Amino acid sequence: MTETKMDSFMRLADKLERDRDLSDDELASVLLCDDPHFSDDLSAKARTVRESIYGRDVYLRGLIEFTNYCRNNCYYCGIRAGNKNVERYRLNAEEIIACSDQGYDLGFRTFVLQGGEDPYFTEERIVSIVSTLKKRHPDCAVTLSVGEWERESYRKFYEAGADRYLLRHETADKDHYGTLHPANMSFDHRMQCLRDLRATGYQVGCGMMVGSPGQKVEHLVRDLRFLQEFRPEMVGIGPFIPHHDTIYADHQPGSVRMTLRLLSVIRLLLPEVLLPATTALGTLDPLGREKGITAGANVVMPNLSPVNVRGKYLLYDNKICTGDEAAECIRCMSSRVARTGYQVVQSRGDHIRYKRDHE
Ligand code: 5AD
Ligand code: FES
Repeated sequence: MTETKMDSFMRLADKLERDRDLSDDELASVLLCDDPHFSDDLSAKARTVRESIYGRDVYLRGLIEFTNYCRNNCYYCGIRAGNKNVERYRLNAEEIIACSDQGYDLGFRTFVLQGGEDPYFTEERIVSIVSTLKKRHPDCAVTLSVGEWERESYRKFYEAGADRYLLRHETADKDHYGTLHPANMSFDHRMQCLRDLRATGYQVGCGMMVGSPGQKVEHLVRDLRFLQEFRPEMVGIGPFIPHHDTIYADHQPGSVRMTLRLLSVIRLLLPEVLLPATTALGTLDPLGREKGITAGANVVMPNLSPVNVRGKYLLYDNKICTGDEAAECIRCMSSRVARTGYQVVQSRGDHIRYKRDHE
């Protein structure tokens, strides 16, 4: 890249840092600029912003993948209903609680209950699991990631004690959403769910895959505009990774470097947001999560699911951490984070909610 071209990119990074915003075209150029010097500059700016709010702390969330049954058929996902080659499992309430007890003893104070949209887990069953968990560990935050429900159900989960809810929007472009999902799944309903979750009182997480089939840089710019407008407390992004039993088996995976730039851009657009360095990032690059933290992420989610089911929750191929005990995974994660110059902390990490309440 010529020096003048590089200068103009550096000016864009300065502008993003100063204004917390850019035009659509500028955002697209930033996402597409693969020059390592530019990415380093963007990362450094993102780190400064993150450290001004969160210091060097990285939050741990204990992930419990409690069912891989799913009634949906998202075309990109390995555990979609139509995949007959998946060995299905579900943990019962006692097993889920046992996972959380073990996590509690390891120091976790946030649990993320994630699963496919499994009809066995009715509203009543989820309510009962959340309230049992909150009674046993009242000092913990419970995050649900169990897909699309009606507003009334979200309210019941909330009243049972769920604090946070993760529901990736997947793509903010309705047409693109339509190409990634079958006709019975609705973009409008997903967006409605996110609004309902917000209105119910949850701290809400959304997010998208990077490099999903058919994704153009314009779609990512739309995603960023959506994030600016919706202002979620958390944004989960990771590269798309093909799964061998889907129609996208031969599609190329998303770019790790673009994912890292996006993490930095999101940190600069939404300084206080909680940003996980995701398992998908660690799957495509052995140092992906470390690089994510260096690029502005501040959350990691070690897996607490029992080892005998780990290898069955496969949304994509070659997923990491499928053979490790919870204790080993957290030890590994802590030393990985430490090597980046940051430290894991076992707090609920509620700062952002505090700020929003006092705006
Ligand atoms: N590659 C990467 N991420 C995926 N997800 C689903 N399938 C894949 C895949 N093949 C993501 C989706 C979903 C989250 C739980 O995992 O964004 O919301
Ligand atoms: Fe899970 Fe390394 S983070 S084994």
